[in-house]
This record gives sequence, structure tokens and C-alpha cells, in this order.
Amino acid sequence: VLAIWHQLTKTEIPELAKCSVLMRERSRVEETIYSMQRAGAGSLHVISDFDMTLTRFAHNGKRVPTTHNILDNRLLINEDCTRKMRELLNTYYPIEIDAGRTVEEKLPRMVEWWTKVHELLIEQRIRKDMLAQAVKESSAMLREGHNVFFDRLAELQVPLLIFSAGVGDVLEEVIRQNDVFHPNVHVISNYMDFDHTGVLRAFKGQLIHTFNKREGALSHAACLTELQGRPNVLLLGDSLGDLTMADGVSKPENILTIGFLNDQVEERKESYINSFDIVLVKDETMDVPNGILRCIT
Ligand code: TMP
Ligand code: MG
Repeated sequence: VLAIWHQLTKTEIPELAKCSVLMRERSRVEETIYSMQRAGAGSLHVISDFDMTLTRFAHNGKRVPTTHNILDNRLLINEDCTRKMRELLNTYYPIEIDAGRTVEEKLPRMVEWWTKVHELLIEQRIRKDMLAQAVKESSAMLREGHNVFFDRLAELQVPLLIFSAGVGDVLEEVIRQNDVFHPNVHVISNYMDFDHTGVLRAFKGQLIHTFNKREGALSHAACLTELQGRPNVLLLGDSLGDLTMADGVSKPENILTIGFLNDQVEERKESYINSFDIVLVKDETMDVPNGILRCIT
């Protein structure tokens, strides 16, 4: 039977043969895909990270900005704030992706990073009505094939939950400007709280950083009634912390996880292969998720 499955995925999902694709256990991936295919689109929902998962990591050798980095625009923040945010990025991003540290070690440092950046942003009195222009002027870019991904899920009415430690207001503007903010899209993220004059005064709710998505997933589970009765999950992320985004799903049946390994490839390859079902190495496209969706829906 396995040999037949092999043939099927090869012909049905040729994208899985790309050399950027790594799998610890190909047979498990195939079995999961076929269980999901049998259950159909009505049993499926998709949970995805945003920065460096739905957006590209780099383009033409240049890093693509995350939602926080899109805010680095003179319309919103001054030079001093730019410099301080860059210093924080240079200090904390290497910690975030360090293969030699445990999540327990990283966690308090991530809280520090996000807290400091949010304090800096609040000091800048960012105006809500300038965000759209900053996104327009930025080099934000979704992965190649993102339109097929978003449009297909919308067409099938498969809920897409975007779970991001970035800035929700900026994230929404990026997907709106790319014409993919369809009604099936739900966002959990750090949202800005503006005063009555439209000036940033705080961030709403519990802070979300890269390594506390589990708590966010559990606390939001109850309000996302649309996801109930959809026990199959396709999960996309670029950080090991993203794996906990499905922890709020009640009675999951099949969960297929895809990890984009963008940076520190050699150092992190082993842990990614051991943690995600499918690992995509320096792949700036949505080809594999699109191929899987085409097969299971
Ligand atoms: P994500 O959950 O959508 O991937 O967003 C989190 C990413 O944002 C994480 O990988 C680090 C990045 N980040 C910045 O680029 N700049 C910042 O100032 C902060 C706080 C996070
Ligand atoms: Mg990310």
C-alpha cells in the first residue's frame, strides 16, 4: 500500500520532489495527506504564522521587512527610534534563532525584546491614519504563489487563522493591499490601541511573542467557533515556537506541519526535521502548501 501512496504523492504533488523539501518520515506525511483528502475541505482549517512564513524572508538578496520593521518609516518614527529598534533586532534576533539555546532560555529575552520595542513605538505617538501609507512605501512581500493559497482557501471556505507575534494592524494592511484579506481569514496578533485622536497609546491584550503562541492558542480557542468541527489542520511556520499554534484545537484528527527554514540552515536543520513533518529549505514560494491543498481539497 505504501508503494502505491508513494506513486500517488509523486504524481499528485510533484512539488514534494523539489530539492528544497526535507521529510523525516515521508510515509507519515503521505498517510496524513490521504486521511485529509478522504475527509475533504469541510474538515480542514489552516493555521499559519505571518512574518517569514506568509511573507518572504528575502528578495534579490535583501531581507524583506517583518511587520515591526515596516514601521521603520519617517512617517511614523524618528531616526533615534530606528537606531534603537535596529540595535534591539541585532541583539535579540540572533537569540531567537540560536540553535544552542533552549526555549526556556529564550523566553524571557523575547519578552524583553517585544516589551522594549512596543515602548519605543508608543513613545513615537504613531498615527493610525499613516499606517497604510507606510505599508505602501515598504518592501513588504508575500511569498510567490500566495494569491493561489489565499484565493483557494477562500473559494473552499476553509478558515485561515493567521497567528502572528508581529503587529496586527500592519499585518492586516499588508494582506488588504495584496487583495487577499478574504472573509475566511482570521488574525490573532498584537494590535495597537489608539486614543480618540488616532494616536498609538498602548498595545491591546496579552503580548504575543515567538515562544508563547501556545497560551494565545488556548485562550482564543473558544471564540473561534468557525474552527470547531474541522479536526484536520495544516500548520505553517518558520519558528519552532509556531508548532504550538495548533494547541487550542479541540479533538484534532490529522495535523500536518510545514516549517520554512530560512536562516541558520545548517545549525537548525536537524531540529527542524525532528519537529516539522515537512521542512522547506530556503524556499521563497508557497508551492508545497499549494500542492498539498490541491491534493486534499
Ligand atoms: P511572526 O510571529 O508573524 O513570525 O512575527 C514575529 C517575528 O517578528 C519574529 O520572528 C521576530 C520579528 N521581530 C522583528 O523583526 N522586529 C521586532 O522589533 C520584533 C519585536 C520582532
Ligand atoms: Mg515568523
